[in-house]
Amino acid sequence: MTPIEQVMRTAPVIPVLVIDDVAEAEPLARALVAGGLTVLEVTLRTPAALDAIRAMKKVPGAIVGAGTVTNEKQLDEAIGAGAEFIVSPGLTKPLGKAAIRSGVPFLPGIANAGDIMRGLDLGLSEFKFFPAMAAGGIPALKALAAPFGQVRFCPTGGITLDNAPEWLALDPVLCVGGSWVAPRGGTPEQIEQLAKDAAALPR
Ligand code: 3PG
Repeated sequence: MTPIEQVMRTAPVIPVLVIDDVAEAEPLARALVAGGLTVLEVTLRTPAALDAIRAMKKVPGAIVGAGTVTNEKQLDEAIGAGAEFIVSPGLTKPLGKAAIRSGVPFLPGIANAGDIMRGLDLGLSEFKFFPAMAAGGIPALKALAAPFGQVRFCPTGGITLDNAPEWLALDPVLCVGGSWVAPRGGTPEQIEQLAKDAAALPR
């Protein structure tokens, strides 16, 4: 099993996190881990993100990665902050090569067959299907997966507690990603409950 496959098989849902204030980071990670979601994707969309990764890594059991990594500079910054895996919304050759060179588990986004073929050329076989609902939903993923039997996916973008079971029932889907488990302004109690519901999703 590849290291990123191991990350993907850890929990049915990878929370996609946007953290505005580093003070929120540790309580948020504690709530998610307490609810059973241990793989945490901190998106590099806010100035607090790198410090949030550092803060969340202090929480026992948390596996903290960086998301929205779009270039080599961000890759280096994320690894420097201790990111244990890297998620990107799409796949470029420079980012893919740098991620592979670094040895960090890497989950790049794909939305079409050409993207998957570029990833396979680099030696990758696990991808984020993004944006999952906008890119055609389950029919699109089924059609894309058919010619690439060995490829596995983490659909993300428009996934909810309600539609997640349909995605997780598909063979090539190892997990899904979503922001619904950590709404901005949610209390730790609310987030722990959302995490529990997500962690209980069957795969
Ligand atoms: C992502 O960056 O992966 C998406 O913004 C998450 O999508 P969602 O907010 O629809 O879950």
